[in-house]
Amino acid sequence: MARTKSMRSLLLLLLLSPLSTVTASSAAYPTIPGTTDSSVSASQDSKLIPIRREVYGDGRIFDITHKYRSDLPSFAKENGLGKFLWLRESMKNGSSANISEMKLITLDRATPGHYHDHYFDAGFDVDTLDLEVLNGPGLLIDVPRGTNITAEVMKSLRIPKGVRRVLFRTENTDRRLMFKNQFDTSFVGFTTDGAKWLVENTDIKLIGIDYLAVAAWSDVVPGHLVLLESTEIIIVEGLKLDDIQPGVYSIHCLPLRILGAEGSPTRCILIK
Ligand SMILES: *[C@@H]1O[C@H](CO)[C@@H](O)[C@H](O)[C@H]1NC(C)=O
Ligand SMILES: *[C@@H]1O[C@H](CO)[C@@H](O)[C@H](O)[C@H]1NC(C)=O
Ligand SMILES: *[C@@H]1O[C@H](CO)[C@@H](O)[C@H](O)[C@H]1NC(C)=O
Repeated sequence: MARTKSMRSLLLLLLLSPLSTVTASSAAYPTIPGTTDSSVSASQDSKLIPIRREVYGDGRIFDITHKYRSDLPSFAKENGLGKFLWLRESMKNGSSANISEMKLITLDRATPGHYHDHYFDAGFDVDTLDLEVLNGPGLLIDVPRGTNITAEVMKSLRIPKGVRRVLFRTENTDRRLMFKNQFDTSFVGFTTDGAKWLVENTDIKLIGIDYLAVAAWSDVVPGHLVLLESTEIIIVEGLKLDDIQPGVYSIHCLPLRILGAEGSPTRCILIK
């Protein structure tokens, strides 16, 4: 369809190079436990239970990035992200290290080139994004439920001038849309007039949202066009904003430096 055609869905390949290849070639470095001794016993292995967390530092640091999982929803796709990670080389097959390879649609972060072809051609890729905009104080706010983010909604939020970073939590979070594998077009996002209102009446340069597009499905192309027009606004989509008090946080988002990509997987955290 025209919408998906207008987006450039760049696929990216990343090689995750294991630390063990570094240590193996240089005896001067200390040994990383488990990487050189192949005789680690099964009983020792069973005690190795990795800890996964959403909150760190006694409730001060929140991970607002969703884990990459094959059942994560994917923009305008029926069956989610699908298989994106595999072992290119495996120790079980006799290799000296496990080396994973992954293939992802560049989603979480949009540059001006995401919807503006001339910006894309001019080289506005993820490497040109301003780290100062992506990192600094900002607000996590709840938008009223039962509506998309219209001009009226934006006005009612009374976001003070000078606020440059805002994460908008919507009913997408209540509906746990990011935990459903099927893409849902009824997600809440900015309407075109809501986007215009933000551009014209606020100082917001970083917009975060809790589903896969910042603009509502019915306005997905014009909404993005308005927000990305100036090349000053950075959009971070697909954030995990569950179970965090609204308020002021230090926001930190780091997209990968992928030359030529209009978006990139991005790790975002909030620090109280
Ligand atoms: C390991 O080797 C088997 C047999 O050659 C092959 O089927 C499998 O795909 C290999 N796996 C990896 C991760 O290399
Ligand atoms: C290495 O790959 C094997 C599969 O071949 C897997 O069972 C094992 O957990 C992997 N080890 C690490 C350290 O990832
Ligand atoms: C938001 O807009 C979409 C269409 O883009 C619609 O399907 C959805 O119902 C709207 N949500 C609300 C809460 O109005």
